[in-house]
Amino acid sequence: MSITKKLFGKLADGREVWMFSLVNKNNMQADIINYGANLVNLLVPGQSGERVDVNLGYDTVEEYTVNDGYFGTVVAPNCNRIDGGRFEIDGKTIQMPINDTLNNLHTSDDATQKQLWDAKEEGDALVLTIRVPDGLAGLPGNKDIKLTYSLSDDNELKLHYEITSDAKTIINPTNHSYFNLDGHAAGLIHDHYLWMDSDAITELSLQKKIPTGEILPVAGTAFDFRKAKKIGQDIANDEAQLTLVGGYDHNWILNGYDGHTVRLVAKLMSKEANRTMEVYTDLPGIQIYAGNFISTQRGKGGATYSKRMGIAMETQFYPDAPNHPNFPSTVYDAGQTYESTTIYRIIDGVDLP
Ligand code: GAL
Repeated sequence: MSITKKLFGKLADGREVWMFSLVNKNNMQADIINYGANLVNLLVPGQSGERVDVNLGYDTVEEYTVNDGYFGTVVAPNCNRIDGGRFEIDGKTIQMPINDTLNNLHTSDDATQKQLWDAKEEGDALVLTIRVPDGLAGLPGNKDIKLTYSLSDDNELKLHYEITSDAKTIINPTNHSYFNLDGHAAGLIHDHYLWMDSDAITELSLQKKIPTGEILPVAGTAFDFRKAKKIGQDIANDEAQLTLVGGYDHNWILNGYDGHTVRLVAKLMSKEANRTMEVYTDLPGIQIYAGNFISTQRGKGGATYSKRMGIAMETQFYPDAPNHPNFPSTVYDAGQTYESTTIYRIIDGVDLP
């Protein structure tokens, strides 16, 4: 493993944005910038030796300052939606900005997504840190976020988060990269197969796209990926949960959650590319977002990205957790460290579970 560093560009105010390249012995490469802790490129060895970039993104800092689809972004301190942007901690109401019709989505851009993080190389790893100040987006506590990216010789891109706040608050970060195993510019992901170790999703309210608190078994629905199936197979089914958000954009409840064991939870597979991406995490949920609302736009190298050309597999706690006592809690005490690990592993070949 080696890390090299080069200037990626400059922000409008002149601050420099650096790109760090993690390369392993198989010549797999992850390029990360310290703006938004964004994953910019994920180059994986192809069958005939050439490398294929499987991560959607942009070529310039300027485009990352817009990035309305959160390509490659680390979303923190809280990802996903909060009902009315409102919840309570110890009887005190916290109000976050409403930035998604009636809800809060992904905290706010000025928390971590559109911010410059500190970056340093530590041995084989890239360590990115940022402080989200007390009160930003209404959230209590100065929250110190540390994210360590590393790339193993087993082709595992690992993200390890450690977050501590000096006041009781909510913590639930994720990575919002969109993958297309045929290549970032290859088009629709409908023919990718997906498998997940999950028997249920959190039901969405048909009015607000927010969990009702009910747990919906996937059996007999379009949400059943217990046996691998093509993403496109049932995505256009006439099921209210699906049509509500134009396709898959839901939280699957992952089996085997015990608060600390990192286990295999999902596999994304392309027969076309003969490539698999395994997802491992110690978290209880995964938001699968099939790119239903990717606006048609220019991506890396002049590629055109549009609806369903990449899939985000966002490991996380359940959406709106602070408003549902039956969901695993995202509330952390002052000084209590949130810690989690997610691994995206590339394997040659496809073995449909
Ligand atoms: C996802 C969310 C989607 C969409 C996307 C950003 O995490 O579930 O509904 O908002 O972020 O475009």
